[in-house]
Amino acid sequence: MRLLVTGGAGYIGSHLVKLLGDIPGHQTTILDNLSTGHRAALLHGDLVPIDLADTKAVEDLLKNGRFDAVIHFAAHIVVPESVSDPLKYYLNNTVNTTNLIQLCVKYGIGKFIFSSTAAVYGEPDNGVVSETSPLSPINPYGMSKLMSERVLLDTARAFPDRFKAVILRYFNVAGADPDGRIGQSFPDATHLIKVAAQTLLGQREQIAIFGTDFSTPDGTGIRDYIHVSDLAQLHVRALDHLDKGGETNIFNCGYGHGYSVREVLDTMKRVSGVDFKVVEGPRRAGDPAKLIADNTKVRTAWHWEPAYDSLELICRTALDWERNRTY
Ligand code: UD1
Repeated sequence: MRLLVTGGAGYIGSHLVKLLGDIPGHQTTILDNLSTGHRAALLHGDLVPIDLADTKAVEDLLKNGRFDAVIHFAAHIVVPESVSDPLKYYLNNTVNTTNLIQLCVKYGIGKFIFSSTAAVYGEPDNGVVSETSPLSPINPYGMSKLMSERVLLDTARAFPDRFKAVILRYFNVAGADPDGRIGQSFPDATHLIKVAAQTLLGQREQIAIFGTDFSTPDGTGIRDYIHVSDLAQLHVRALDHLDKGGETNIFNCGYGHGYSVREVLDTMKRVSGVDFKVVEGPRRAGDPAKLIADNTKVRTAWHWEPAYDSLELICRTALDWERNRTY
């Protein structure tokens, strides 16, 4: 297939691009403005270094590229920033995505895979969400993604014979490719496992636990951490699904079980053998107590079995990457 991967030089996109390079027959083009992505993260494919907001350049690419499918990662992802600068999020995540969808329809590109997020669920009551759970984002980031989901679903409904989409709702993506060549490299990263790795390596003085009074067994927040290589693999499955004529659909991407902040920090200490300074701080605005995927749908529909469902492995690969990273 001829594939266009937007944001393919980023953290999750680069892990998919690597997998695509291992599958014979795919020709991969990466659209990335390299604002947070890295040229060095591309182990396969041809980079077109343009911005998604440059509608003329994007149109030229789609018009001439004869792509069979678009896998759309490019987005802003920092929740607090989305609160202080919502227009940045709606313009890039929603408007640019809508333009891209429109160009796909215009140039007959009928397969679309979209990076969505568990943030579309907001603060769910019991913390375990299926694809049919209420959608109630509590920040512009989550809303910008939910709006794009809606554009995709409405477009697929309007053109059932020529446009189909798979929406993947990511839970907490972490870890790095076990072969050590790619990983997360985002300026001022705020993700728990990344920050813990940096603290452990002495790049930060301490890590704060954001809230110890949640209604969870140890009082700290619980999340469903999915290894980035398993998540990348789910995009390959989504491509297969669409290639075989599968319908437009939405899938939660998580392991279906979670760990508390304390459990994650203890695991980081155990796998590294290094103690580091942990302090207890107040809750971060908008953090739900618990967010876990009900992943029955993806397991049933695609017979998906994760390959890296181990918090130790996630922590170890994240740490190895942080120690030896090249970009
Ligand atoms: C992450 C993503 C969000 C995505 C969501 C889906 C970011 C910044 N967040 O959110 O885009 O939509 O998953 O579920 O990309 N924590 C600490 N101390 C720290 C950092 C984090 O205690 O220094 C805690 C948080 O309060 C939370 C847990 O660790 O309980 C995970 O936090 P984080 O890694 O930032 O991810 P989420 O906020 O869950």
